[in-house]
Amino acid sequence: MINGESKIARLRWGMIGGGRTGQVGYKHRTGALRDGTYQLVCGAFDLDVERGREFGVNIGVASDRCYADYKELIAKETARPDGVEVVSIATPNFTHFEITKAFLEAGLHVICEKPLFFTVAECEEVRKIAEAKGLIVGVTYGFTGHPLVEQMAMMVKKGMLGDIRIVDLQYTHGFNAGDDTNASEAQKWRTNPKTSGPTFVLGDIGTHLYYLSEVVLPHLKIDKLLCDRKAFIPTREPLEDHATVLMHYDNGARGHLWVSSVDAGNMRSHRYRFVGSKASLEWTDSFPNQLSYEVQGEPVKILHHGMPYLEDETNAIDRMGALHTEGLGDSWANIYLWIAQAIDAKKRGDEAFLKTHRYPGIEAGTEGVRWLENCVRSADAGAVWVDFK
Ligand code: NAI
Repeated sequence: MINGESKIARLRWGMIGGGRTGQVGYKHRTGALRDGTYQLVCGAFDLDVERGREFGVNIGVASDRCYADYKELIAKETARPDGVEVVSIATPNFTHFEITKAFLEAGLHVICEKPLFFTVAECEEVRKIAEAKGLIVGVTYGFTGHPLVEQMAMMVKKGMLGDIRIVDLQYTHGFNAGDDTNASEAQKWRTNPKTSGPTFVLGDIGTHLYYLSEVVLPHLKIDKLLCDRKAFIPTREPLEDHATVLMHYDNGARGHLWVSSVDAGNMRSHRYRFVGSKASLEWTDSFPNQLSYEVQGEPVKILHHGMPYLEDETNAIDRMGALHTEGLGDSWANIYLWIAQAIDAKKRGDEAFLKTHRYPGIEAGTEGVRWLENCVRSADAGAVWVDFK
């Protein structure tokens, strides 16, 4: 069980974006600041410089360390003996590559939002820089720190489901069911290929589904996929506000995934069902403290977080204990802790630890972008089957 005791040196941490109006910034701070593993020392929080400075001061950052932009932050912080060591990038997608590269080149670790970049080639370029510099790139797939996600992975690993046959993934909501006439800033950049990248909902929410399925089923690889995407609001073309993806895995399993931001009225967030030859698991982010374990021919079992019947690995990352609700902030805290542990191991040169340590890093970010590239290749050829590459 995690109780906030930190066994690694506190990291000096900064943020790019995630300011007063940013949607995701507080999730980063909730995760990073939970265990005292990170200390927020600086930031370039906002495109609006004065608003960003005022915001930074209000959350406890010294005014002279709230910078106008990431370039000033790099210049000033790398000149300080107590300068920042790691930054989180919580800005729109089109800025991720440029900002990540600049920080790595300046010798700083990076934690970046998903979808990581626009292309696999960019991911590979960044991976080389990070390797050459001995730096970590973390990616905030924030839902995969829930203990019951670990439980699903352990149950699959122990063969409790039998052979995996069906992978059923859904992340849909209706927040973009209307047109974009009065779109927020966050909606405007998401529906423009110049700022969002080659996808809208596939990258925005589909990458969460894909990464979580990789965590639970690390032994399964996609052989081929078919993606059908559509913009129900035509001004969003060539991007999609809705997509369906069929996947064939290398063990013969079949996967289907749908993502949508026009699923009017749906407030159920995301849902995962993994079906094996003996049993199935179903978990949803709406009720993250419960996992449905369904053995063919037996009554359904609902497993609860924090209980002694769960795997040791599951309870090792529990924070609140049974009966007490855990939520997204706890999941993000685990993600940030795992990334801090990776940074600490990198600093100590402990490559053996890094080989077995689970955290969403550059590989996870790259695989998400690779999946998107394959989806777009299929969809734009008319929703045809393509070999996954
Ligand atoms: P947003 O549009 O709500 O906020 C962006 C923030 O970044 C604003 O504060 C803006 O002023 C600032 N900003 C933009 N460009 C900047 C720059 N060059 N330098 C400094 N600040 C800059 O966007 P939102 O929804 O917060 O998304 C940001 C990123 O987070 C996206 O990549 C998105 O895909 C990802 N995201 C991830 C989530 C997750 O669960 N991991 C959830 C929501 C978003």
